[in-house]
Amino acid sequence: MGERLKGVKAVVTGGAGAIGLATARAFLREGGSVFVADLDRGAVDEAVASLAPEAGAGVAEVAGGTADVRSPAEVRALMRDAASRLDGLNALINNAGANVRSLLVDYSEADIDLILDVNVKGVVLCSQAAVPLIRESGGGSITSTSSQAGRRGWDHSTVYGASKAAVVGLSRAMAVELAPEIRVNSICPGHVRDIGMAWRTFGQRKAETETMEAFGDAFAREHVPLKRLQTADDIAAGFVFLTSGEAREITGASLNIGGGVFMD
Ligand SMILES: NC(=O)c1ccc[n+]([C@@H]2O[C@H](COP(=O)([O-])OP(=O)(O)OC[C@H]3O[C@@H](n4cnc5c(N)ncnc54)[C@H](O)[C@@H]3O)[C@@H](O)[C@H]2O)c1
Repeated sequence: MGERLKGVKAVVTGGAGAIGLATARAFLREGGSVFVADLDRGAVDEAVASLAPEAGAGVAEVAGGTADVRSPAEVRALMRDAASRLDGLNALINNAGANVRSLLVDYSEADIDLILDVNVKGVVLCSQAAVPLIRESGGGSITSTSSQAGRRGWDHSTVYGASKAAVVGLSRAMAVELAPEIRVNSICPGHVRDIGMAWRTFGQRKAETETMEAFGDAFAREHVPLKRLQTADDIAAGFVFLTSGEAREITGASLNIGGGVFMD
């Protein structure tokens, strides 16, 4: 067990999903305490139970709760609950996300609203609710999950790409507004191999291949300079770094973790 996040008390939204759960586990392994936040009570309980052995002998703590990141009241209650359970709050990982793949001309209004509300409004609402608590705890950091889709164009990803570009823009503006007490950064994952959004995306596109794994490998060979897809642990490592004291001079940054699939 490491100590890079000793004293960190973090909320991870989308904490029961692939990247969120890996991030919560990585935080606990580095001595940080974690509050797993997600939509579904059963999934949160399962995540907390699977993480409990990592929490160690009183060094770090793990707890969890539900909130829809689109609901200001639910998000405020969740952040207060987290700060009370962890005895403070000094890190927020805005990681909950939604996507519906569609051609621009076919997007339904409901899908447009879902993607923008979860991915953009959700980051704003969670940050609004967390900032006073982070300030009360003496400062800290906010790190949000953007995407390669926010940095380069992909077909069937216009609205999703716009929402993830907004996460980068929001993080930069928040970095200026919340300095010097709170550092704000974002991470742009490539395609994550673990079951999660990318996997479902491949599922929607895989008609021509026998397995999603084969589709993913073919995709990586063709598009990714490092010739592999990323894992949820690869993305979690970025969250650990940006939350840790090693990144104390880094704010307003957007970290690409995509094997070189995009570089700007
Ligand atoms: N998997 C990838 O390849 C990839 C690539 C780039 C970016 N991302 C981003 O990473 C983040 C995590 O994705 P993942 O791959 O782990 O997918 P995932 O589906 O496993 O996790 C997403 C989590 O967000 C939660 N969530 C969705 N809507 C919510 C809401 N309204 N309120 C609260 N929670 C909600 C879901 O319940 C789920 O647990 C997302 O923001 C996604 O856009 C993923």
